[in-house]
Amino acid sequence: MTVSTYSMGHDDVLVEVKLGTRSYPIMISNGGSVPSVGAFARSRNQSRLAFVVADGGVTAHLEPLRESLLQAGYRVECVILAPGEGQKSLAQAALLYEKLLDLKADRKTLMVAFGGGVTGDLTGYVAATYLRGLPFLMIPTTLLSMVDSSVGGKTGVNLSRGKNLVGCFHQPLGVWIDLKVLETLPDREFRSGMAEVIKYGMIMDAPFFGMLERNLSGILARDHGLLRRVVARCCELKANVVSQDEREETGLRAILNYGHTFAHAFEAVAGYSAWFHGEAVAAGMQAAARLANGRGLITNDIVERQSRILSAFGLPVDCDNNWPADTLIDIMRSDKKAEAGQLRFILPVGLGEVRLFADVTVDEVTAALAKRGV
Ligand SMILES: NC(=O)c1ccc[n+]([C@@H]2O[C@H](COP(=O)([O-])OP(=O)(O)OC[C@H]3O[C@@H](n4cnc5c(N)ncnc54)[C@H](O)[C@@H]3O)[C@@H](O)[C@H]2O)c1
Ligand SMILES: [Zn+2]
Repeated sequence: MTVSTYSMGHDDVLVEVKLGTRSYPIMISNGGSVPSVGAFARSRNQSRLAFVVADGGVTAHLEPLRESLLQAGYRVECVILAPGEGQKSLAQAALLYEKLLDLKADRKTLMVAFGGGVTGDLTGYVAATYLRGLPFLMIPTTLLSMVDSSVGGKTGVNLSRGKNLVGCFHQPLGVWIDLKVLETLPDREFRSGMAEVIKYGMIMDAPFFGMLERNLSGILARDHGLLRRVVARCCELKANVVSQDEREETGLRAILNYGHTFAHAFEAVAGYSAWFHGEAVAAGMQAAARLANGRGLITNDIVERQSRILSAFGLPVDCDNNWPADTLIDIMRSDKKAEAGQLRFILPVGLGEVRLFADVTVDEVTAALAKRGV
């Protein structure tokens, strides 16, 4: 669909997250659309002040954003965060509250998150809680945040004893994706984001999975046209899920956690800086596929196809041999998505289809962890 109001190009895509009065658009542009962000923001918000929280890794892209917001009549104030997961803390949230107080922000003040999932989660959380809720705009700059964290309204910060333990749902007033910013994203971050992309194919879209298989080299080369199709499809799939189960109540949204029960345990044991989230998700999806295969839910061919595509993107398909299975299983039992210590897994039952299983045994998990390769 072409959207001319905000000077986007012919090939640009609009995806809508349908949530009644809280519905919002995700604008996906091939490149260079940041100068139109201000007009987009203005069409949805009448504040005088825009408070931009930007990741320190994207300062090279910050000036066009500032300029665009200024042109749209905003007074623009920016805070630049040091890169890293450590920013997602209550202490950092408190600093942003203080800054909002200094700026005399009111309930219309627009907050803008400009960065990856860390910036989006923190900014969204502050926007959700300051004066009981400010409007905010997501401008994701990592592949992971474009296809996952910026869509769906989950915001939050970490506690020292665990990730994402404090947070709330707060939908943005819009998401603006300019694929050009991905040109500066480090390779390992890009590949890590691909794990979540592959996840969408596995859980709900077999033709999309096939499209990824056929276009490995183009995607790795970050071909803009291909990336636009990939990002748009992922946003569409996530938007559909979120529209039907915004607060993870019916079980539908839980399918997005495919591979994540294993992944959270791998991340906790490896250390969050040693393994990127997408890398843990890749190895987690492969463990889940082996488990499903052991139950006779999927064929060897599907396990192998998933393994091949993950490996092609340089993602791990095994956890470390030296990690004790019982430690990993203990962590899985205490996962915040587990219920009363019961192990629950989203498992594939075909290519493009998953279901929740609450009857998985410790032996099955141990066996899935012990197998290597496919
Ligand atoms: N809210 C949700 O629904 C949701 C979903 C998935 C993940 N998350 C959260 O997202 C976070 C991970 O997000 P992430 O993977 O985007 O990590 P991130 O925000 O830490 O960004 C990764 C790195 O890339 C750099 N960077 C970002 N954009 C760049 C660009 N265009 N060019 C150069 N460098 C750039 C950053 O400085 C950082 O060092 C985690 O905290 C996770 O819990 C939230
Ligand atoms: Zn994830």
